[in-house]
Amino acid sequence: MKKTVIEIIREAENDLPLSDIYLLLIHALRKTKEFLFTYPHNVLSAHELAKWEDNKKRRMQGEPVSYITGEKEFYSLLFKVNYETLIPRPETELLVDEIIKREPESLLDIGTGAGNIAVSVKYHLANCSIVAIDINEGALKVAWENAERILGKHDIRFIQSDFFNNLSKEKFDIIISNPPYIMSKSIKKLQPEIRDYEPGQALDGGADGLDAYKVIINEGWKYLRSGGVEAIHELPLLILEIDPEILDGIRTILQDRRYRIEKIAKDHTGAERMIILSLLK
Ligand SMILES: C[S@@+](CC[C@H](N)C(=O)[O-])C[C@H]1O[C@@H](n2cnc3c(N)ncnc32)[C@H](O)[C@@H]1O
Repeated sequence: MKKTVIEIIREAENDLPLSDIYLLLIHALRKTKEFLFTYPHNVLSAHELAKWEDNKKRRMQGEPVSYITGEKEFYSLLFKVNYETLIPRPETELLVDEIIKREPESLLDIGTGAGNIAVSVKYHLANCSIVAIDINEGALKVAWENAERILGKHDIRFIQSDFFNNLSKEKFDIIISNPPYIMSKSIKKLQPEIRDYEPGQALDGGADGLDAYKVIINEGWKYLRSGGVEAIHELPLLILEIDPEILDGIRTILQDRRYRIEKIAKDHTGAERMIILSLLK
């Protein structure tokens, strides 16, 4: 049976949000959104129709749009994603803004996932020397592919490492991380779309959600360039994505340690989403 773009959209509107329909249709047709608007009466080929039906079925079963299309926009760049990687979130762009405005010469990205932070920074700061690590080899493969596709020739070093274990004693201006921070007991309460599809290793922060923060905060100072400062905005810095639920726990880890809280920033929903720590002298 033949169907046009506009017929497909009208039919699907009862089942899916319009934004999902467009992304899934663009993916099935391998065309742009402009094409859909310009040619609403374009008839889908049998192959396109089958692809659309499959996309729609997967979405209605709860699979995230980005795993179906295999891509997600982050910092205005298009990243490949798959089941090995977390789907980059808009909140994480806050962290990239902070890095870019401080123009570090070197950066360590812990838990790089699809490489979205490291690649976005490199795109804007070509001279920044970047090491991006992840424990998951599958994620690193995706990150590497994203770097190749978005940056072309580049010198980001992707390393498989359990936190700092496989790193040399190199020091950095900024360590950035968006680590797993969901409390283990809360995983089952997550939306099924996240819980059933996104990698557990990217979500589960242990009993108190703080497992990764304990390691990164307690060991990170050894990998930050020395010469801590009193002045605001100076380097070296540890920049971490957080969840409001674990902020008190992070303050506890920080007590009597080597850092000063420079800034806690909220995301567009008003939730505390980022903490910036400067290394004390
Ligand atoms: C929340 S995701 C963040 C992905 C990406 N940086 C972003 O912001 O969208 C956390 C990442 O940390 C990685 N990870 C988890 N435990 C790790 C460990 N012990 N060492 C290194 N990476 C780890 C996961 O594989 C996952 O890719």
